[in-house]
Amino acid sequence: MRNLTEANLSETVIAAMAGAKNARFKEIMTGLIKHLHAFIREVNLTEAEWLASIQFLTAVGQKCDEKRQEFILLSDTLGATTMKDIINNRKPPGVTEYTILGPFHRPDAPEFPLSGNIAADLPGEPAIVRGRVLAPDRSPIPNAMLDVWQSDAEGFYDLQMPDIKSTALRGVFHADAEGNYIFRTIKPSFYPIPHDGPVGQMLIAMGRHPYRPAHIHFIVSAEGYQSVTTELFASGDPYLDSDAVFGVRESLVVPFIRNDSKDEAERLNVSAPFYMVDYDFVLEPV
Ligand SMILES: [Fe+2]
Repeated sequence: MRNLTEANLSETVIAAMAGAKNARFKEIMTGLIKHLHAFIREVNLTEAEWLASIQFLTAVGQKCDEKRQEFILLSDTLGATTMKDIINNRKPPGVTEYTILGPFHRPDAPEFPLSGNIAADLPGEPAIVRGRVLAPDRSPIPNAMLDVWQSDAEGFYDLQMPDIKSTALRGVFHADAEGNYIFRTIKPSFYPIPHDGPVGQMLIAMGRHPYRPAHIHFIVSAEGYQSVTTELFASGDPYLDSDAVFGVRESLVVPFIRNDSKDEAERLNVSAPFYMVDYDFVLEPV
């Protein structure tokens, strides 16, 4: 351990963990040390750059509190969260793809009957979201649960609205015995992830913007099937190809189709014009 060189340092640091009791911890730390050392060598990290890195990570930690998790933002914006999600949610073709949960899910969303309106009287363009919950053979899954949440027309979630005491733009629905679901809402907007901290500064330095394309979040679950955490993205959104957290999947991009019919609007209990979104969720058996 005294004649350390570029060539033997990594194996020396790894060997120092010989007494580690937890095999998985040791495996993870071995990989981290190998890649960290290789990274430092690859970019020829200078003293000043090393110090700037330490100061950046310190600032990321200092930005965290009960409501703000800057490290998760860092993971999301570097694609680390999506890489973790992809390797842990490999699905057969045709099954609804998993994508990022995000920080705005709440376990206390109210239950709504089918056709219920999660937007209440919030301003925005009315939208109807409907479809079925299906098995991979396209047979309906009865009574699946859909936990839904989204931003308002300005891109804010209820957790970010100072004058909303309870919940808004979120709800739990149960599909019927034939797998059908339908609910009323408003068209969500694209929005920026919190970018007033060190991660926002990093995005600027990278020449990136902080926006996510408009989307509706879902967790769809049913007995005997693997639940899926996912999002439906509005086709035509300007940020579909530059989502700040890399959550978009082509299979989850759906059209919000404008409908100007007053008769249709009346039948569906919305005002015209409104938007229709059709999407069938496909769950994988356990
Ligand atoms: Fe979101």
